[in-house]
Order: sequence, then C-alpha cells, then structure tokens
Amino acid sequence: MPYTNIDFNNKSILITGGAGFIGSNLAFYFQDYYPEAKIVIFDCFRSGDTFLNGNLKSFGHYKNLIGFDGRIICGNINNLSDLSLLDGYKFDYIFHQAAISDTRVYDQEVVMKTNVNSFYWFLEKAKNDNASLIYASSAATYGSLPSPQKIGDELPENPYGYSKYAMDNIAKEFSMLNPDIRIIGLKFFNVYGPREFFKAKTSSMVIQLGHQILSGQSPRLFENSNKILRDFIFIEDVIQANIKACRSSISGIFNVGSGIPRSFQDIADILQKELGTNYPTEYFTNPYDGYQMHTQADISLTKSHLDFEPWYTLEMGIKSYIPEIKNTHNLPLD
Ligand SMILES: NC(=O)c1ccc[n+]([C@@H]2O[C@H](COP(=O)([O-])OP(=O)(O)OC[C@H]3O[C@@H](n4cnc5c(N)ncnc54)[C@H](O)[C@@H]3O)[C@@H](O)[C@H]2O)c1
Repeated sequence: MPYTNIDFNNKSILITGGAGFIGSNLAFYFQDYYPEAKIVIFDCFRSGDTFLNGNLKSFGHYKNLIGFDGRIICGNINNLSDLSLLDGYKFDYIFHQAAISDTRVYDQEVVMKTNVNSFYWFLEKAKNDNASLIYASSAATYGSLPSPQKIGDELPENPYGYSKYAMDNIAKEFSMLNPDIRIIGLKFFNVYGPREFFKAKTSSMVIQLGHQILSGQSPRLFENSNKILRDFIFIEDVIQANIKACRSSISGIFNVGSGIPRSFQDIADILQKELGTNYPTEYFTNPYDGYQMHTQADISLTKSHLDFEPWYTLEMGIKSYIPEIKNTHNLPLD
C-alpha cells in the first residue's frame, strides 16, 4: 500500500543495489504504486567471483528484476567511470542499498572500500541533485551490546558492522555541514521475505529452514536456539520504513526492526506449522565467535520521527512468505 501521500510519479529515483533483495523490492514498490516514477537501478549484478568464505562477491540477480521496466545500469560502486554513467541524471530520491552485505567477509580493505568509500560519492550526488538520500545501515553496528539496541550506542564486532558504523558517522558529519539535504540512515535488523533467495547462504534462516523442511529434512539449528533471540523484520515493513523516510523533515539514523525479539526455534516451529510437518529439530554447535545472541531494536525514534509502525508479526510474515518459499525450493542459484 502507499505508505505516504508523496506522489512519486514523475520523480526520479535511484536505487543502488536494486538487483538485490531489498533494492528490488523497493523498485517494484515504486513501479506498482507510481507507474510514472522514473526508476534507475545501479548494480554490478553477480559474476562468478567469490570471497575467501566461498560466498559470491555480489548477490544481485536479474531474476529479481523480471517484470521491472525501469532503467538498469550495470556498474560497480567502486569504479568512478561506472558511477559517471549516473552523471546525466538528476535524482529526487536516492536509495543506497549496494554494499557487501555478507557479514562474514573479513577482508577489511575490500569491505571498507566498497561500503564506505563509495558512500562519499553518493552523498555528493545527493547534494548536487538536491536529493534525499536514504541509505542502508545495519544492526551489525551494535555487535553484542545488550538489548534493546539504541541509536548512539554502537560497538561493531566485524568489518561489515564497522563499515556501516563508519557510514553513519560520515552521514552525521555530512548532515551537519549540509543541513538542507536529507540524509536518512536505516539500521535494518534481520530482514526476511521474497527476493532474498539469491543471497544463498547469506539469506535469512526463514527461507533456509523452509527449504530444509520442504526437502523432508529436520530443521537444523544451533544448540540453545530457543535462547538465541533476534529482531526479525518482514520486507514489507522495511519498504514502509524506506518510504516514510522520504518525508522526514530531519536527517538522522533510525532502527528498523519489529521491536520484538523472537527465537530461531520460533521460526522453525512456525514454518513446520505452516508446512504441515512435525520433524524433530536437529541441534549442532554454533561455530561462530561474536554471534549476536539477542537483538531487539529500540524503535521509539523511528516511530516518533518517521511514523514507522511495523505491521507484520513473525507469524504473519512467514505465512505470507510461504508461497515464495515453495516456489524457490530446488531452484538453481545461478
Ligand atoms: N537483509 C538484511 O537482513 C540486512 C540487514 C542489515 C542491513 N542490510 C543492508 O541492506 C542493503 C541491502 O541488503 P540486501 O539484503 O538486499 O543484500 P543484497 O546482497 O541482496 O543486495 C546488495 C546489492 O548490492 C549489489 N552490490 C554489491 N556490491 C556492489 C558493488 N561493488 N557495486 C554495485 N553493486 C553492488 C549486489 O549485487 C546486490 O544486488 C545492504 O547495504 C545491506 O548491508 C541488510
């Protein structure tokens, strides 16, 4: 549904990372509700290149965009000549989603270059175009600080979390120097929902467990998964936050979560109920250091400043996601 009374028809909208999970959902939101919106996607899509952890270097996939009829520019945010392809455009809104989104890439140089250096370029572009810039920050900026996680109290524990923390600091400084430009950072918590399939091992546990169950396997969880709680948020509510950020009268950084922590065990149980199965859960030892054991977004500022109101409970989100989980089961990932 349209979340604000802004008429985006005839507005010029850039979505970086638009071939990925959140960016492609944003693109379809605008296309569906504002058919005259001029949407440009900038994304490097995927090559076969992988990081040392075996995951792809970027997860964008053309299949996320089938049916999208806006403009597409394939380019790398690390490459100034690719970015110059955007020079001829003057945008009203920039949604900056492109990033190394894999939290387990530990090559600090590549994470910082990709996520942080490019950000300066988009801030300048927003300034030159007089555009509002809404960018993706992350709950990873909080590391394992106790819940509820609050804006202004961050302690990242991996290069990815640090890169988003650095972006937040850059955004704050830029906003002070440029009070007329709206720069809104959104710290997404654990997002799940349609069009995340191509993130493979980095997609949410909702789809990964859903596919295990559909393959006739028991859901596999870390030991004590009933005590590992996260703030899971359905993609529709993330879109709501991005759209409402467009009418913010102030720059700022806001948490985007449901505000309610739920366990990984809850996810497995809800999926089994929806899929009509009753497999015993298999438990194994959590191999990760620095694993977030409890996240819960403090969304008071997001509510008061952006009028954000998460709508989907975990039960509602998973229920509406089931058809897509079934459709993507056994699909090839390439
Ligand atoms: N999904 C989540 O739970 C979550 C949580 C917190 C923050 N975020 C952030 O939200 C944003 C979107 O995440 P997502 O889940 O859609 O991830 P995603 O990996 O599906 O989307 C990122 C997109 O950026 C593109 N990209 C990566 N490197 C690029 C480069 N060098 N040049 C151009 N394009 C590049 C990828 O191809 C991909 O399409 C990211 O910034 C991510 O860090 C996501």
